[in-house]
Amino acid sequence: MSEVKMIAVVGGGQMGSGIAQVAAMNGIDVFLHDLDPQALSKASSSISSSIHRMVSKGTISQTAGVDVLKRLRFTSNLEDFHTADFVIEAIVESEDVKKSLFVKLDKITKSSAILASNTSSISITRIASSTTRPRQVIGMHFMNPPPVMKLIEIVRGADTSDDTFAATKALSERLGKVVITSQDYSGFIVNRILMPMINEAFFTLYTGVATKEDIDTGMKLGTNHPMGPLELADFIGLDVCLSIMRVLHTGLGDNKYAPCPLLVQYVDAGRLGRKRGIGVYEYSQEPRSTKS
Ligand code: 3HC
Repeated sequence: MSEVKMIAVVGGGQMGSGIAQVAAMNGIDVFLHDLDPQALSKASSSISSSIHRMVSKGTISQTAGVDVLKRLRFTSNLEDFHTADFVIEAIVESEDVKKSLFVKLDKITKSSAILASNTSSISITRIASSTTRPRQVIGMHFMNPPPVMKLIEIVRGADTSDDTFAATKALSERLGKVVITSQDYSGFIVNRILMPMINEAFFTLYTGVATKEDIDTGMKLGTNHPMGPLELADFIGLDVCLSIMRVLHTGLGDNKYAPCPLLVQYVDAGRLGRKRGIGVYEYSQEPRSTKS
């Protein structure tokens, strides 16, 4: 595949807007799509404020900042994707919703386009099976927040071709990221290891072993993690953590992946983490690092 000139990102949430920002900052034209115009305007203002912050801190020049913003276009019309070389889907973690989007993308995009999913745990092989081009479907899992985190986990579906893998790896490196490669099994690499740790932190809290503060301080200072596991769960979203635990539990068929009842209860109560202002902790205002 020749060099990617135009990327299309579907989903204007925290991940989609962060991915669009990373692409634009690395000289690539980007279309960011969301069905909800309000989500698009939120994405646009959070990217702008992130870029302005970098300009004011001197991380990038004023001219570079203006250029980044010029490379971004926002749309609610998927048909705009017909010129894209590479599509990255970052919508809700639902297999059915993703599959129906991929059916549309398969029809709209040019036949050479690669269709990537930022899914955190759903099978790439099954998403690919909804298209007529499974060889050109791949997992491209960014970490949150995409502008800061150095890693992209590339997931090869059963039919992903070597060319698709090579093009995705080259693009990831062009975005300044380090690549790891996973086969297509539940949770891939990062979430297979991270989510059971977060789930265990919930069990530690649930069974009264320690306070939430001591659990987080223990892991921050004891193992040099930037955030404790409960703080990180709030940052990721408790609903996302629960959904990934359920994928691990079903997909790997082992009871050690059963979600902690406390995590389930928090999600049932709408305590979804920072995005809702309450999760394991309460937040008086949305912290800066969740805004873009
Ligand atoms: N966009 C752009 N830049 C951002 C940002 C964002 N959303 N959030 C933070 N930054 C930048 C800040 O501007 C700052 O830049 P500087 O060093 O040039 O001044 C730098 O990142 C540090 O930010 P802050 O000072 O605001 O805050 P912290 O030092 O506390 O860092 C953090 C925030 C980067 C989020 C850090 O706490 C961290 O690394 N936490 C762990 C995050 C993590 O583990 N992510 C992976 C989650 S798992 C995942 O995503 C997989 C999924 O499938 C669930």
